[in-house]
Amino acid sequence: MKYFTQFESRELGQELIDLALLYKNQPRLDQAKGQGKRVGCIFLNPSLRTRVSTQIAAQNLGMEAIVLNMDKEGWALEMKEGAIMNKGTVEHIKDAAGVLGSYFDILAIRAFPSLSNREEDINDFVFGQFVKYSGIPVVSLESAIRHPLQSLADQITIQEFSKGKKKPKVVLTWAPHIKAIPHAVANSFAEWTLGMGHDLTITHPEGYELDERFTAGASIEYNQEKALKDADFVYVKNWSAFNDYGKILSTDSSWMLTEKHLKSSPEAKVMHCLPVRRNLELSDEMLDGNRSLVQKQAENRIYAAQAVLSKILG
Ligand code: CP
Repeated sequence: MKYFTQFESRELGQELIDLALLYKNQPRLDQAKGQGKRVGCIFLNPSLRTRVSTQIAAQNLGMEAIVLNMDKEGWALEMKEGAIMNKGTVEHIKDAAGVLGSYFDILAIRAFPSLSNREEDINDFVFGQFVKYSGIPVVSLESAIRHPLQSLADQITIQEFSKGKKKPKVVLTWAPHIKAIPHAVANSFAEWTLGMGHDLTITHPEGYELDERFTAGASIEYNQEKALKDADFVYVKNWSAFNDYGKILSTDSSWMLTEKHLKSSPEAKVMHCLPVRRNLELSDEMLDGNRSLVQKQAENRIYAAQAVLSKILG
């Protein structure tokens, strides 16, 4: 495996889940594998979980992880081909990515969308420029349209809590937010959940339809109460509109999940990738209650990253 940027196949997904669960039991099992290897973790946007879990994962494999907060500490990058750089940008991505490619064995990148240029975002332009010019294996730490390490951790968590159920009912429910939020987590969660063969229902107010490239095969239900019935897992996430690109069309607080919403799904576990805005996206009652898997998901981020780095190391 040279790139980890998206869901590839159910076989590879299961292989990564199994490897992650093995590392969860024996974190230092492959301590010798990464000796003498370096991963560069390049952040164009903030992070808590992704940054720290990837560093721990690398250390567990004996690798060195070097973090660069490119947005705060690096030169302002020019992404456009053939640009005349007479404005704010200082270094071209061709040069920066080439240099990073010569320093590291694996490059890991976080590059959020602009939410203003839909064409560039849906083609993952910025992330793609790093892949194009670094010339080494690349791991996505969240791109404009996908967050595969989060999704792998989510699938590990679903497998752990499925109680042997082969095809659990999974519901992805939109939640209110005050900011325009990217689609990456929701897209990726849908892509991986469907890819792993689960039964996925997506519920949101009208106008919040996600990119069909990620949701084909899911049931779309605008009635949240109906969607949530008999759910095994409820994944809560805000995203901005995709068709009316990057817009906030609703802040309807009745979409925020509470115990009342789950009266017809007694078994449902509640998931969120974090960070979460409490009592806006998800109630304290849900986050602090027995249904919540949010801390388990965050813990599994370590083993998801470790499985991916290990697979790339070969
Ligand atoms: N879930 C997630 O990616 O968290 P961070 O943004 O803190 O890395």
